[in-house]
Amino acid sequence: MCGIVGYVGDQSALGVVIEGLRRLEYRGYDSAGVAMLADGKLATAKKAGKLANLEALLEESPMAPATTGIGHTRWATHGAPNDRNAHPHVDCTGTVAVIHNGIIENFAHLRAELESRGHELVSDTDTEAVAHLLEEATRGGEVGLADAMRAVCHRLEGAFTLVATHADFPDAVVGARRNSPLVVGRGQGENFLASDVAAFIAHTRDAVELGQDQVVEVRRDGVTVTDFDGNPGEVREYHVDWDLSAAEKGGYDFFMLKEIDEQPQAVADTMLGRLDDDNRLVLDEMRLSDDDLREIDKIIVIACGTSFHAGLVAKYAIEHWTRIPCEVELASEFRYRDPVLTRSTLIVAISQSGETMDTLMALRHAREQKAKVLAICNTNGSTMPRESDAVLYTHAGPEVAVASTKGYLTQIVACYLVGLYLAQVRGTKYGDEIAKVVADLRAMPAKMQRVLDDLEPVRELARDLAGATSVLFLGRHVGYPTALEGALKLKELAYMHAEGFAAGELKHGPIALIEEGVPVITAVPSPRGRSILHDKMVSNLQEVRARGARTIVIAEDGDTTVEPYADVVIRIPQSPTLLQPLLSTIPLQVFACEMAKARGHDVDQPRNLAKSVTVE
Ligand code: F6R
Repeated sequence: MCGIVGYVGDQSALGVVIEGLRRLEYRGYDSAGVAMLADGKLATAKKAGKLANLEALLEESPMAPATTGIGHTRWATHGAPNDRNAHPHVDCTGTVAVIHNGIIENFAHLRAELESRGHELVSDTDTEAVAHLLEEATRGGEVGLADAMRAVCHRLEGAFTLVATHADFPDAVVGARRNSPLVVGRGQGENFLASDVAAFIAHTRDAVELGQDQVVEVRRDGVTVTDFDGNPGEVREYHVDWDLSAAEKGGYDFFMLKEIDEQPQAVADTMLGRLDDDNRLVLDEMRLSDDDLREIDKIIVIACGTSFHAGLVAKYAIEHWTRIPCEVELASEFRYRDPVLTRSTLIVAISQSGETMDTLMALRHAREQKAKVLAICNTNGSTMPRESDAVLYTHAGPEVAVASTKGYLTQIVACYLVGLYLAQVRGTKYGDEIAKVVADLRAMPAKMQRVLDDLEPVRELARDLAGATSVLFLGRHVGYPTALEGALKLKELAYMHAEGFAAGELKHGPIALIEEGVPVITAVPSPRGRSILHDKMVSNLQEVRARGARTIVIAEDGDTTVEPYADVVIRIPQSPTLLQPLLSTIPLQVFACEMAKARGHDVDQPRNLAKSVTVE
């Protein structure tokens, strides 16, 4: 949602904070703002729109040099995305500044209370109330900022990361977190606070993961963590295993293009150390015992958006390999339908960020009902792995573009690993059958690279179709989630009508959408193996072509049967049907990206979106 940075040290706080905000802009770009402490005085600057607008303002009206400061990039929830509602927010006296990620649910009540005591609130945000509560709690500097923050946190309901700075305590920045991310970066004679390690990766790779309901005081020479009552807080220290280059564009115009190209490596990294020389699965890190895994009688995958599509792919693989019933549910719907959960239900929560509030709340609901929870996550130090019984990290490296690409394909790989591991532990597949799938999986990164090497026709096609008003995607079996993912990418990046359908459903209604020239994109399953799927898909292709659709067909090398019914054929290497999404998704990602470019949109920061959605 929003991005938060805090800094105390010897460098220019403004420089460090702006650089951090640039790396966090993927979290929200409705407005940006900073608060700096210089010569015992608090100064703020904030501006609606992207960070560049704030930078232009700072160039026009420079701030005094400071070594303590905070900064924020916003994805608006309460109040329009204008200058007035931009963070930081200050109190009546202009001594406390606060930035916030999340939602303070009881803010209306707090606001009314503060106004009745004479406070003047000038924005429409929920955050501003906290600045005034801190003003009261610090009692003109008599009470320290960390103590005041602890007291204020007791009054707040909802989800929040808060970071504050106070003119009377110029050598500290204080943060608090509940249900929303905040990490500490430990430097030499300087320390950092941020929503994500990317903000300080240029300065340190030593991070501290804060626990739930903790307050942290960050000074030049140290960091103090407590719970909301002031008791020492438990934290986890870790070393970030990627460096600055992973968080930079590295010569690409957009992060998304770089991340698409990184997919073969990300998939290989996600398998690394998890397969032995005999192609057996080794998932010791998972923290669920083999006995636990043998007891499972139902699997429910919960996730949102693109991660949900990874879950849909997982269902086909897991049921096929393990014979355990597997449901896939939108996390945002899950807990409201009173799902049937028992101790032998395994919940697989898939989330690139590990912070998506819908998924987190669903996960918590499942744990309350005593189900076991396995998180598939990309972000070390995020909330979901900490709150799950087990975790399998995807090793995709930082994903900065708002639209998920390498996050998605590595999630699919992690799901395959879970399915195969369950099959291995429960003996639902023979060792040589598992070894065959593993060998096929090992071959995928090279095949993905071949797809990436031959995408110019896809780019051309996207430029050619840039004026289309609607694009439809069809798929069967694992091609169905691929169709949904292709449509989602196009919607979010190109802002155009796009829909994914199960190809067999078409004749039950959506076929009425087909008219002359409508682009229809399909991924056709392999004609080898379960050829019935292939043949049915080819029939569906004929149906839409007969009604005037312009058909764009993703098909395996050597599959000539599609040619009579395809206006354009995009070739991918041969692979087992279950693994095909690792290949067939790539052209769709590139298609959406190129379409967005052709339509003049910002590929990395699509309108109205933010990368990690930390509100329900
Ligand atoms: C779309 C996209 C989103 C996310 C969704 C879940 O390209 O990225 O749909 O997949 O918001 O995010 P995570 O995986 O972080 O829980």
